[in-house]
Amino acid sequence: MKLPEKIIEVNQNQKKENEFWNQVYGGMSVEVEVGELLYALIRSTKPRIVVETGTGDFYSTAHILQAIADNGFGFLHTFDIKQKFNEHDYPEFNDKYIFYLGDALEMGKKLIRNLDVEPYQHLFPSTIDFIFLDSDHTYEQVTDEFNLFYPYLKVGGVICFHDTILDKREQKAVDEIRLRNDIEMIRLFTSRGLDVGVKLS
Ligand SMILES: C[S@@+](CC[C@H](N)C(=O)[O-])C[C@H]1O[C@@H](n2cnc3c(N)ncnc32)[C@H](O)[C@@H]1O
Repeated sequence: MKLPEKIIEVNQNQKKENEFWNQVYGGMSVEVEVGELLYALIRSTKPRIVVETGTGDFYSTAHILQAIADNGFGFLHTFDIKQKFNEHDYPEFNDKYIFYLGDALEMGKKLIRNLDVEPYQHLFPSTIDFIFLDSDHTYEQVTDEFNLFYPYLKVGGVICFHDTILDKREQKAVDEIRLRNDIEMIRLFTSRGLDVGVKLS
């Protein structure tokens, strides 16, 4: 997997950082293996539209965008209440994403309202193909983000939740979601936990 220079630099320290941040509630970027898995999932499922909440330092974002670039198509809508990255570090991805500065729920509603509105239909089609939720891990935020975006996820689309082991509030929300009969989910016991679901109907 080819990655931006900036991310390769980060990667060298990422494992150590993860070990440290795993001790801290609500840690930072996703684990190295979660970044790699996101890349692999995007490469294999080939989504047109991806939604990410919790852009953070652009670590998960860069893996998603690199996969979109390598697929040759796709577009990312990514949300964070703070801008912690410099877009000039990633010029190769400029035309492949929109960053929404603000609460994922508030800004996400704007995205949803734009669905099917010409002339932006190529950027805002009526379905989402892949969702990665990694913003605020409170029970309410996870549940509300799920309820906002999931109705627009296509059948067969993938949804991932990060920090499902580390954060018990996130875990509670996801444990409720996994009881639905329109979703099949697995929990991966990475150091902080990643739940991966597929929409069945
Ligand atoms: C765990 S970090 C995300 C890490 C990122 N996925 C990565 O791999 O680099 C969580 C992020 O969620 C953001 N956040 C917290 N509350 C939010 C909200 N209500 N809406 C959008 N983003 C939020 C924080 O600013 C933080 O950058």
